[in-house]
Amino acid sequence: MCGIVGYTGTREATPVLVEGLHRLEYRGYDSAGVAVLRRGKVGVTKTAGRVRDLRDRLAESPPNPATVGIAHTRWATHGEPSDRNAHPHLDTEGRIAVVHNGIIENAEQLRARLTARGVELVSETDTEALAHMIAAELAAADSLEDAVRAALRHVEGTYGLVVLDRTRPDELVVARNGSPIVLGVGDGEMFVASDVAALVHHTQRVVFLDDGELATVHPGGYRTSTLEARRTSKEPTTVELAADDYELGGHSDFMRKEMAEQPEAVARALRGRLDDRFATAHLGGLGLDPMALRAVRRVKFLGCGSAYYAGQMGATLVEELARIPADAEPASEFRYRDPVVDPDTLYVAISQSGETLDTLAAVQELRRKGGRVIGAVNVVGSAIARECGSGVFLHAGPEVSVASTKALTNMTVSFAMLALLLGRVRDLSAAAGLRVVTGLRALPERIEEVLADDERVREVAKRYAHARHMFFLGRVRGWPVAREGAQKLKEISYVHAEAYQAAELKHGPLALIDADMPSVVLVPDDDLLAKNIGTIEQIKARGGPVIAVTNAELPAGLADEVLRVPRGEPELDPILLTVPLQLLAYHIAAELGRDIDKPRNLAKSVTVE
Ligand code: G6P
Repeated sequence: MCGIVGYTGTREATPVLVEGLHRLEYRGYDSAGVAVLRRGKVGVTKTAGRVRDLRDRLAESPPNPATVGIAHTRWATHGEPSDRNAHPHLDTEGRIAVVHNGIIENAEQLRARLTARGVELVSETDTEALAHMIAAELAAADSLEDAVRAALRHVEGTYGLVVLDRTRPDELVVARNGSPIVLGVGDGEMFVASDVAALVHHTQRVVFLDDGELATVHPGGYRTSTLEARRTSKEPTTVELAADDYELGGHSDFMRKEMAEQPEAVARALRGRLDDRFATAHLGGLGLDPMALRAVRRVKFLGCGSAYYAGQMGATLVEELARIPADAEPASEFRYRDPVVDPDTLYVAISQSGETLDTLAAVQELRRKGGRVIGAVNVVGSAIARECGSGVFLHAGPEVSVASTKALTNMTVSFAMLALLLGRVRDLSAAAGLRVVTGLRALPERIEEVLADDERVREVAKRYAHARHMFFLGRVRGWPVAREGAQKLKEISYVHAEAYQAAELKHGPLALIDADMPSVVLVPDDDLLAKNIGTIEQIKARGGPVIAVTNAELPAGLADEVLRVPRGEPELDPILLTVPLQLLAYHIAAELGRDIDKPRNLAKSVTVE
């Protein structure tokens, strides 16, 4: 969602800011803008549309050698996407410029209060109110930071924000509450961003602000404090991300690159965590000793979108390997149903970005009620990782494409290790444990084999790309895979896809089967093979085309198309079965000419409700 970039140093700020915005494009946005300060004048350029439109607009005006500035990509919440509503926003005199992520919940009251004071608001946004409020506080404040602090006292809601003051030529003030903000420490220059992706080209030394924290930033450094004006001390940490993690590196798009990276991403997630001697897994970040692991009587996975489906795969793994009840629930629902929080349940909050507001709110609700919650998060230092305090990092590397592929795979791989660990402190035998360890270790190679079948999947995709609807069907292990497959197709191709438990088909949806309704059926070679073959026969008898995704030998001519995956340990089948569905969605979207990495209406990390 919205992206923030700030710069103060000796370089020309505009190109640094615009390049930073480019790197945040993947998050999803609908307008963009930049404000730079030179000789006491704030120059603002903004536009509805893409960062390249902003770049074009900037090219129309004379170059501005300013060395300090702020920039933003906006995802509309208050008011339509338009030039007027795009950030940065200014106060009436054009002294203060603000960029802001998050949602000010009492924006209506704040705006009304300003209007009553005679302030003329020029946009429909919540952010503009902040600019006027900060400007009003300046008279009584000792510093810009104090003015920002004073203004924020009236604010309810979430924010990551950066403020520029016309009278302070090289200073930025930054604040965070619920929306990530990170400082990048350079040599005689400082960067600010909502996501390290915008910084790693310049510096890998970063400072993550906490909620309720502010920072004043100038080319020589930074100082941090709380909303209550208490000084905090923050040392920079080094992020292990290389700039080229965010480059296409010869791939046509990020989804393709990230699918291809899955074997190495899985190998990274497994590294140092598998134990042959005791046939178990080591997940040091969980912070749970064997006694605590034994005390877990139930596991609940919480996540949104693909993370939720990965959680469902995790729940199946935990039930199979550890024989304790487990389920998954959309994190977006959790806090609203006044959940019964059980002290014997281990809650697992799943998130690639670690920023998804619904998932963060579920974690906060759990913690408030004394629940034990761990994170399964990809982005180190992210809000959910920090709120949980313990958990398992996914080590998938940066994921840029909106559609999650390698992160999702690493979620499921991590849950297989968690299930193995929970199983081995209970009744899972060493032999069974070793079978899972061996299966996990073989995964990178097996995923490689699935990816090598790309051309075959492309042919199938071409044949079905113009279907208007598709079913995805699976039983037990195959059911969350079917849901994830349908989600991928919807997200990036805009083809209507619905997932059903295969056995539910005959209870209603079978009425929809005809020659124009293809079904993708997940057929792992497990105890339910005969049942799944029966499902395919039911569909074929009604003239429905079938694409079977399988590691079993199916009767010749049963399905119209067969996408094969290698045989592995049956509990791990969902991991392998997911991969051809990524490829299928990818090739259908490509055939339909979709913008694969940036599907319409979607954002990579959803930091608003
Ligand atoms: C958005 C994305 C989904 C993603 C979900 C959860 O809705 O479009 O692809 O699965 O967020 O994201 P997270 O970062 O929490 O895993």
